[in-house]
Amino acid sequence: MSDVAIIPDMSSEQISSLTRETNYGTWRFQKSWKPLHIVDAEGCWFTDGAGKRYLDFSSQLMCVNLGHKNARVVEAIAEQARELAFVGPVYATTARARLSAKLLEVLPAGLEKFFFATSGTEANEAAFKIARMVTGKNKIISRYRSYHGSTSGSIAATGDPRRWAMEPAGKGMGFVFAPETNCYACPIRHTYPGCNVACADYVEHMIRNESDVAAIIVEPVVGTNGVLVPPPEYMPRLREICDRHGVLLIADEVMAGWGRTGKWFSVDHWNVKPDILVTAKGITSAYVPLGLCATTKKLADYFEDRYFSHGHTYEAHPITLGPATATIEEMQRLKLVERAASLEPYVREKLEALKEKHISVGDVRGLGLFFALEIVKNRTKKEPFNTMRDKVEGKPLVVEQIAAKMMGDGVAQQSWVSHFVIAPPLIVTKEELDLGIDALDRHLAIADALVD
Ligand SMILES: Cc1ncc(COP(=O)(O)O)c(C=O)c1O
Repeated sequence: MSDVAIIPDMSSEQISSLTRETNYGTWRFQKSWKPLHIVDAEGCWFTDGAGKRYLDFSSQLMCVNLGHKNARVVEAIAEQARELAFVGPVYATTARARLSAKLLEVLPAGLEKFFFATSGTEANEAAFKIARMVTGKNKIISRYRSYHGSTSGSIAATGDPRRWAMEPAGKGMGFVFAPETNCYACPIRHTYPGCNVACADYVEHMIRNESDVAAIIVEPVVGTNGVLVPPPEYMPRLREICDRHGVLLIADEVMAGWGRTGKWFSVDHWNVKPDILVTAKGITSAYVPLGLCATTKKLADYFEDRYFSHGHTYEAHPITLGPATATIEEMQRLKLVERAASLEPYVREKLEALKEKHISVGDVRGLGLFFALEIVKNRTKKEPFNTMRDKVEGKPLVVEQIAAKMMGDGVAQQSWVSHFVIAPPLIVTKEELDLGIDALDRHLAIADALVD
């Protein structure tokens, strides 16, 4: 029995306790979960029940790209609810047609057929099923430093330790892992450019030896697992390898899409056209839950005379589609993709200055308004303070200690194992960037003191 009393006017403390008592806290030990009561959010800021404001320095989960409470998107939600809140996916709706037309404007050319889901996870599940149905093959190659979602197929495709709890029986079959592209700490101990991008060639070796490979899925710029930006040759080389072997290329742009890297989609940096592009998060700036699996017409044509064996009740849910069009229109009106690109040098310079100043900073990398700052115990050995195992065993992480101090100063900062993900809303000002980076600066001393 819960000892939390349910009363009409609850205090923030009671709201937090009731939430904690009755809900699962995700990806964590439950005992330490004390959810902060949030009552408001506007622009790059959100406010707790005590009235304290926090700079949203990672756009929540790298998703509120437009910032909070954009009036046009809020209105689009209300308008869609008034006009047509729900109708099943078999029907055409104005919201569906308008968004489809808008997507054709901003997606890489050639991605022309859409399946709308309600999360990045579901959109990836759709991608895997489509790839398998079209090719008649089964295996999907993914990479170790990756996250693709939480359900059977997408967790099986996830290289990071969130997969471990589902091994071996709780995850979909047929997923194999390639080394990631990480020029700071190369998993196959090569050095760019002398390596001639051997990590891409290794994928070809895998395809030859695995056989039965339907697709390879990559986050072109890896998100949570370190904002890993590949060298310029990598994505075009992967495209060539896939073409040579009849393997489909799936770009997971759930986090890296929607202007985050200074282009509409991160594949646009290398003019690479994937066969399938998966996205979510920024497509509605996270105001409503929408995922997208976009494919080429060639893949879509396969199903003209064959059964498309996939769907959800909430596929193409009108409430998610109207606001998505409004989000994209707002991004265009405010020129947010260009803004992310133009702020990149400012952020890079400021973070590089932190690297100069703090002995614990091992690497700074990123594109647009999407950066990682990685901390290490020893710069020469590039040894992290914590391991992935520490993370899933609930051990206190150095990055989390620093993030907690920043939160105390009113800056909300996402971290993962041994790096911070700096990804504020794309409307962020230079003053707000200064504020967030100054908070990091103040508390990196915690890590500096622990350096070998
Ligand atoms: C690259 C990537 N793919 C897929 C997902 C899963 O998306 P969702 O949490 O919307 O299911 C995420 C979530 O963070 C992600 O970053």
